[in-house]
Amino acid sequence: MQPSDPPLLPEQVLQARVAELAEYVSRDFAGCSASGGCELTVVVVLKGALFFAADLIRRLSVPVTVEFVRAKSYEGTRAGEAVDTAFLFTSSLEGKSVLLVEDILDTGRTTSAIIEQLRRQTPARLALCVLLDKPARRELPMVADYVGFTIDDQFVVGYGLDFEERYRDLPGIHVLVDDEAESGT
Ligand code: IMP
Ligand code: MG
Repeated sequence: MQPSDPPLLPEQVLQARVAELAEYVSRDFAGCSASGGCELTVVVVLKGALFFAADLIRRLSVPVTVEFVRAKSYEGTRAGEAVDTAFLFTSSLEGKSVLLVEDILDTGRTTSAIIEQLRRQTPARLALCVLLDKPARRELPMVADYVGFTIDDQFVVGYGLDFEERYRDLPGIHVLVDDEAESGT
């Protein structure tokens, strides 16, 4: 298996869309300020959303704090049954405006498990931002407030997304294709 050439979503396309998403988020959370009591906390889902969140956060025009949650649900390209989460928080989300940033919304199980646990901390507001949405595979009725791109049911890598921990470093997003298909044989 290897990443498609050309990419499904090249770096420039991703960056342009991230800038748009940052504008929407900044506009929607414009009333928030550290002194105004509704400071925005961005919760980044590791590892996949690392690069997306880093680019998004740096383009926001509202003050933010950043927290992390680690989630693991995938073995290879198949969805695992269990979602393993670890919250690496340094402060409570109680009464805060929270933006959960995830790489991809697939079956919805990972995001749903994380949101359920975030709600227990009673944030004042909780919004979901995903870079990619794969609605074809949804098992739980999850809808994101901000979606970068809606894609078909295909396994993608790059820009944080991995296949068995590889390819996260690619600047664009590529479909994972088998070597024979890629070489045309
Ligand atoms: P869900 O729980 O099925 O919604 O899966 C979400 C998680 O599965 C994401 O956070 C990704 O880590 C992983 N995932 C889903 N689809 C892909 C893909 O096409 N490439 C890489 N990882 C994926
Ligand atoms: Mg992942």
